[in-house]
Amino acid sequence: MNQEQEIVWKSLENDCKKCTKCDLAKTRINVVFGQGNYYSKILFIGEGPGKNEDLQGKPFVGRSGELLDKLLAEINLYREKNFYITNIIKCRPPQNRNPLSSEQGLCINWLHDQIKTIKPKIIISLGRIAAMCIMNPKIKIKQDHGKFINKNNIWFMATFHPSALLRNTAKKSDIKGDFLVLKSKIKEFGIKI
Ligand code: URA
Repeated sequence: MNQEQEIVWKSLENDCKKCTKCDLAKTRINVVFGQGNYYSKILFIGEGPGKNEDLQGKPFVGRSGELLDKLLAEINLYREKNFYITNIIKCRPPQNRNPLSSEQGLCINWLHDQIKTIKPKIIISLGRIAAMCIMNPKIKIKQDHGKFINKNNIWFMATFHPSALLRNTAKKSDIKGDFLVLKSKIKEFGIKI
């Protein structure tokens, strides 16, 4: 990212934080734009903010986020240092319900603009909703997790949402396996972390 893109990024963040395109603007406390190193070539995308994220204005800061950070630290990935993390939708749906497709449709351009500015080489989608929205609406996360696909010169991989691991600890070995695949791809693609 050069100086010009840095300006684009900051104005994107400011505009996003003022967004009122859908009704979630009426119930949110904070817009959760994203967090981490936006110079990095690795981008993680979740579904949408929950209660803690809405309160703090940062993604994945609740229990599932803590678990995610722990698992990523095992492959030497740290959000402030070598990846950026955001969500499909930037405002919390009431009672943490799934985001409506209309909300996803109205919000997705923020993510597209983030992707255009960051220019990631690798995108990891966390959970079914993110994978369906950015990779393939027909994706079957149970069978397709951990597999890299190339779209428009970006490598995409889906894995389970960390909250699924809190409900079912057996999934932990699956996500750990996916992160080991990610680690070897980072090396293969020559991405400096
Ligand atoms: N779940 C998500 O998908 N995103 C967050 O930011 C937090 C929980």
